[in-house]
Amino acid sequence: MSTFSQDDLKTLVGQAALKYVVKGEIVGVGTGSTVNKFIDALASIKDQIKGAVSSSNASTERLKALGIRVFDSNDVEALSVYIDGADEVDHQGFLVKGGGAALTREKIIAAQSHQFVCIADESKLVQTLGKFPLPVEVIPMAVQRVIRQFRAMGGTAQVRLRDGVALVTDNGQHIVDVTGLQITDPLAFETLVSQWPGVVTVGVFAHQKAQVCLLGTAQGVRTLTF
Ligand code: 5RP
Repeated sequence: MSTFSQDDLKTLVGQAALKYVVKGEIVGVGTGSTVNKFIDALASIKDQIKGAVSSSNASTERLKALGIRVFDSNDVEALSVYIDGADEVDHQGFLVKGGGAALTREKIIAAQSHQFVCIADESKLVQTLGKFPLPVEVIPMAVQRVIRQFRAMGGTAQVRLRDGVALVTDNGQHIVDVTGLQITDPLAFETLVSQWPGVVTVGVFAHQKAQVCLLGTAQGVRTLTF
């Protein structure tokens, strides 16, 4: 019988990700409750790294509060490793991300990193992407058009609200969450939706998939490599 809570599993993988951090370098840092555990663990080796590139204002605040220097991504050519969570992970390392509305900056950092290490509890592992509402960051004037395009595909889409009004991302845009789609070809899906006018970023990470996933399970950390 497992005595691990979901929070324990997040702590476990957050700590396990430390071994992928390259000493003396800058590490890419994602966003979310699992990454928060990683950031807390990173503080224990902060003197052995140069700092971090962060994917959200929330992660930046947490990093800085723990004394970890945060670099602008424009000042860093490439990163050895990017550590981030996910809302869904499939058996090829394709991901759904953006539950925390940080998907655009997350995809940028994933693209500038040689290795993407995903950290998640085992509930995130799926056969086919699409059960978790797919986040899409959209320029406000295109929201209704994008919602209609997803409806035409057979999905149901709605703008994400916070306190009763449309959520505004760190980039000043809105999030459309899409349900009812089975994403059987993540690469083609990402390519297609990324081309729709007004779409800033779709939360399918197929072109920027994970190379490694550390899954927190009742038996410990399970490492998947793709
Ligand atoms: C934020 C993300 C997160 O990585 C994703 O939502 C998982 O978050 P958590 O670790 O809190 O479950 O994509 O935009």
